[in-house]
Amino acid sequence: MRGVAKIFAALSLAATALLADNTVTAVKVDADLSKIGCGSEVIKKSAKFSKIVLYPQTTVTLNDKKANELNKEAKAMVVDVAALYDGKNVAVIVRWPDSTKNVQKGYKSDVYADGFALQFATTPEDPSKLPYIGMGSDSRPVAIYLQKAVDKFYEPNGNGVVGYQVNPHNTNRFGESLKSFEKRVEALANRDYQKAFVSEGFRSMTEIKDGTASYNADMHYVEPKKIWGGMVVRPLKDEYADLSKGAFPVAVAVWDGEKLNRNGIKHLSSWIAVKLPVLGGEELVAAINEKVKGDVENGKELAMTNCASCHRWKGAQSAPMYMAPDLSNIGGQATAGYIRESIVDPNAVVVPGYNRNAHPNYQWYMTDDKGNRTSTMPPFDWLDKKSLDDLIAYMQTLKAEVEK
Ligand code: HEC
Repeated sequence: MRGVAKIFAALSLAATALLADNTVTAVKVDADLSKIGCGSEVIKKSAKFSKIVLYPQTTVTLNDKKANELNKEAKAMVVDVAALYDGKNVAVIVRWPDSTKNVQKGYKSDVYADGFALQFATTPEDPSKLPYIGMGSDSRPVAIYLQKAVDKFYEPNGNGVVGYQVNPHNTNRFGESLKSFEKRVEALANRDYQKAFVSEGFRSMTEIKDGTASYNADMHYVEPKKIWGGMVVRPLKDEYADLSKGAFPVAVAVWDGEKLNRNGIKHLSSWIAVKLPVLGGEELVAAINEKVKGDVENGKELAMTNCASCHRWKGAQSAPMYMAPDLSNIGGQATAGYIRESIVDPNAVVVPGYNRNAHPNYQWYMTDDKGNRTSTMPPFDWLDKKSLDDLIAYMQTLKAEVEK
């Protein structure tokens, strides 16, 4: 009996460890991944899924009270992530639960689309210095692939440059019948709202339209199971990200149209280490999964004294609303290295922040004439090692509970 109990204890420990672990092991396959879709055999046969937790992104708020409230109360969600590797390309596959399928149709602005994005980054020399999880940061770029469930996204010139949809009734069809016009447009329509970006922070996203980002994305709703599947295949190495160093960082975001999610309001993972079946990458895996040991109670006290005048988080609500990023989910979305760096050297990564025109009294940073940004957060580089560890250990506990 004791043996069995021991095994059960070990099993439940293993299950907890799995949930806490942001690592995905890529499986080597013989198939050419460049042409696969969500329904491909190779995924069914070879993909090994890991459980990854996504947290509501509470750093930002929209000008939409209801959406903000829903997001504030949102729980964390568990998704399945797998990766495949064919020697040249990597495929990252995500499956996430969503009880309602929301497809945005035409111009109906009261319906928001479900969607997902994968963010890839080159492993830096020092893996504790990853890009800011919210779409990269100055001199730490990321490549982002976004797909949304949008019905018939007409791009009448076929080049993917037009940012609006054709309203066929109001379009000059030069005598052509509506039916034949619609047929012709449909042939040009890109039904998948898919985009690739390179970004150094969410105010500097640049869509890659010149074809240099060769990738393939797909998204598919499985009605009986009420889950979305999404995947992105991209080269191991291109001019936007070099993923060939044994392991690479990827992050997953999903939007739920039903919950009015759009733009910054979404669920977002922390960095996930995808371990390739080649040598190297152990440092990245370790950096991404670092759990700082410290006295959480003391960390909380330090945070209340030193941080709560500017930052808000669940349990500390006295700072003015727009003064600094909300830290309610920092423990779910940031690595220990990022939190450490943010505390001792705020200028290393300056969070792009709010629309400065909308909140002129709460500037998160100053910009000099060369465009360099200096954070308004003072560096806490005077903290001794123990206090710093206690503070980080506390920050790592700040995250929403997982949806049951
Ligand atoms: C004077 C106000 C102020 C104080 C005090 C302050 N911060 Fe900040 N903090 C900011 C601002 C503004 C930013 C956004 C700009 C930046 O990235 O530096 C920020 C950013 C951060 C970030 C990055 C947030 C994100 O979403 O990525 C973390 C983590 C952080 N602070 C932690 C702390 C901790 C821990 C303390 C206390 C030891 C603290 N801060 C004290 C103003 C402050």
